[in-house]
Amino acid sequence: MLAVLRGVGGALPARAVTNEDLEARLDTTDEWIRSRTGIGTRHQVDPGTATSDLAVAAGRLALENAGVDTVDVVIVATSTPDHRCPATAPDVAARLGLGTVPAFDIAAVCSGFVYGLVQADALIRAGVGERVLLIGADTFSTLVDPADRANAVIFGDGAGAVVLGAGTDDDLGALGPFTLGSDGTALDLIRVEAGGSRRPGVDPEEPSAWFSMQGRAVFAAAVAAMADACRSVLGSSGWTADDVDHLVAHQANRRILTMVAAAIGVAPERAVLHLDRVGNTSAASIPLALAAHASEMRPGDRVLLTAFGGGTTWGAGALTWPDLDRPAITLV
Ligand code: COA
Repeated sequence: MLAVLRGVGGALPARAVTNEDLEARLDTTDEWIRSRTGIGTRHQVDPGTATSDLAVAAGRLALENAGVDTVDVVIVATSTPDHRCPATAPDVAARLGLGTVPAFDIAAVCSGFVYGLVQADALIRAGVGERVLLIGADTFSTLVDPADRANAVIFGDGAGAVVLGAGTDDDLGALGPFTLGSDGTALDLIRVEAGGSRRPGVDPEEPSAWFSMQGRAVFAAAVAAMADACRSVLGSSGWTADDVDHLVAHQANRRILTMVAAAIGVAPERAVLHLDRVGNTSAASIPLALAAHASEMRPGDRVLLTAFGGGTTWGAGALTWPDLDRPAITLV
């Protein structure tokens, strides 16, 4: 048995923040943001709305899309949990009425969803459960200094969820093979320096309490790692670049997506672009892109997934698109 995709759903905060909104309060322009990143709009939570609120909404839609109301495991991939302790997943499971199932978080930043797919697949293969709800959910607006023009323009909040069931590799929706990797020597490329156990109790106004990113170095590392991971999965799946109907890469930056596609020989029009509407939603970006672009995918299409994130971490995986009802994305 292995993991098979059975349902998809997404959730975005109702409040959209356009480039024009950011122009009004930051030293930036719509032209700079669009030309450097491809982003036009992102959504942000209002104070009082937490990552779990988005995760619950996305999870509910994925369960509906799959036509099920029980699962055996709940996994939430996030680096913006509601609390430093405990994990967000048990709360999400309880609020979805899923009972006392095992529930835990994965912290692999923007690669969290792909890490979660591998974890879900392993749990299904091991017989721990037959059905897993995996949710990628992040509220980076709570991590990024609103006055930091370099990062405030890039990130958006959101959640995307999938239901994975036990099946075989002949089933539509079959996932895998996968590859994962990390490089902790590049820890400082993407991080929130303070507020963890190394520097607890820091004044929230200190710059070290906010998210920081070395944009140029991240750009280069993201292209290299995602291209390598994709090549690895193409090799192990036996797919050629021409076989890939849709490249669903982590929605970080349009230029990164174009360069990864070019590096592995996938036609640029096959690279799914969702970031123009939602920005970089970190762990939510791949399932949100799947939910938003499902109408362009036909049963049996070959989908190559890949992500890169803080840690640094990366991964890729193969997916044969299932026969799904059209997934929904709700506003919270
Ligand atoms: N508006 C206007 N100017 C801005 C700006 C903004 N929002 N943000 C930064 N700038 C300025 C910088 O201050 C710098 O000015 P200077 O030359 O006077 O010092 C200039 O633009 C160029 O900055 P730089 O960081 O070199 O730009 P860049 O071309 O590398 O683009 C990123 C910046 C962040 C868009 C780009 O590096 C990137 O996309 N990196 C990957 C980020 C990412 O996707 N992370 C997630 C991966 S999980």
